[in-house]
Amino acid sequence: MIPAIRGTHDILPGEVERWQRVEAVARDIFERYGYAEVRTPVIEREELFAKGTGETTDIVQKEMYAFTDKGGERITLRPEATPSLVRVFVEHSLEQAMAVPKIYLMGPMFRYERPQKGRYRQFHQLDVEVFGISDPAIDAEVLDLAWALVTELGIANVELVINSVGCAACRPAFAEALVKALGADVTSLCTDCQRRATVNPLRIFDCKVPQDQPVIDRLPHSIDYLCASCREHFDAVVGHLGVYGIPYRISHRLVRGLDYYTRTTFEILGGNIGAQNAILGGGRYDGLVKQLGGPDRVGIGFAAGIERLVLAMPDDAGVGTRSPVFVAAMGEAARGTAIGLLRDLRRAGLEAHMEYEGRSIKSQMKRADRIKAVLTLIIGDDELAAGEVAIKDMKTSEQVRVPRDGAVAHVKSRLAK
Ligand code: HAM
Repeated sequence: MIPAIRGTHDILPGEVERWQRVEAVARDIFERYGYAEVRTPVIEREELFAKGTGETTDIVQKEMYAFTDKGGERITLRPEATPSLVRVFVEHSLEQAMAVPKIYLMGPMFRYERPQKGRYRQFHQLDVEVFGISDPAIDAEVLDLAWALVTELGIANVELVINSVGCAACRPAFAEALVKALGADVTSLCTDCQRRATVNPLRIFDCKVPQDQPVIDRLPHSIDYLCASCREHFDAVVGHLGVYGIPYRISHRLVRGLDYYTRTTFEILGGNIGAQNAILGGGRYDGLVKQLGGPDRVGIGFAAGIERLVLAMPDDAGVGTRSPVFVAAMGEAARGTAIGLLRDLRRAGLEAHMEYEGRSIKSQMKRADRIKAVLTLIIGDDELAAGEVAIKDMKTSEQVRVPRDGAVAHVKSRLAK
């Protein structure tokens, strides 16, 4: 046996129905908020993420599945979708093509992380992005969309945390304040943090090393260093959340592990899914489009981990809503009629099964039980001669006979009740 690669996982029948439910609910919500679907390649130029996600991030430094292809190009499996969607926005001039460029993507992402519950090397995201709108009302709308996704999936015990990381104008003063506050303590931090302190002090907040946490907890808060317009923006976002009636908590540590964020950052945490409890995360990225070679346009969005949504969803969510029926035949002649009936049931939109190996009626009925058939249609010699079908209710064991021609309509009306 050649097993699957560490950090990847198969999604099997029994679980896949929950994935389908997440995808269906997400599509419905995204479309209600005016987003259109986009599909992009899983391979991109490495440069897109080095520049987009950021050279100093853990993703780019440690986690990318990057390689040189046979033509000598540096390629990577995408670790996230935002730079790809910015590329799409620029490369296909979506600004001209769409009244409001709001797009979403669903698909696999790849990060070479240490696998654990809720954390994989190939995982899947639902990602939404909206371009060109600076008004804080759109930040709040995106937050409302994220909240709708989580609540419509029935996920309980969730918390929205938000922060503002400022902009290119006020960030340098905050970075400087961080370095100053660290002072001599910097030498007591892990080697990653020592490097972060010189190249990008904000990244220190990404540190997970337990011994570093007391020092990090004492660091200044970005929110106290916002310039007047960032402050105004943040206050307006929070004000809108009040109008939407969405509860939130301000978290000073929420700088997020990607370099492009400006102003609003947020996550939804919880859902009783263990240590990896960020169900989704996102924020505003006002300089990214320009940085990736596009026009000077702002953007905001978020991505949710599908594995984490599926894990956090209640057990009864996404159970199949179909009612299977079974067709049993006794004898070779009846079998021909059974196959015709099976086809007619499926054409009529019903889930229908039969036994292929031509076993005894007893074993066919056993099979009907195993697939949890609601009704079983039985055709034996008697029924065949009369041009009829016996229909057995699998719960009550009651049986009726109906004409062959009316059998599909009869089953449909019984299932509709
Ligand atoms: P992110 O926080 O890196 O943000 O990932 C978003 C979500 O993807 C996480 O909250 C988590 O649910 C899921 N996720 C991330 N890594 C893994 C993993 N290794 N295994 C399982 N799930 C994972 C982004 O990716 C940004 N592109 C979000 C964004 C969109 N910001 C603006 N627009």
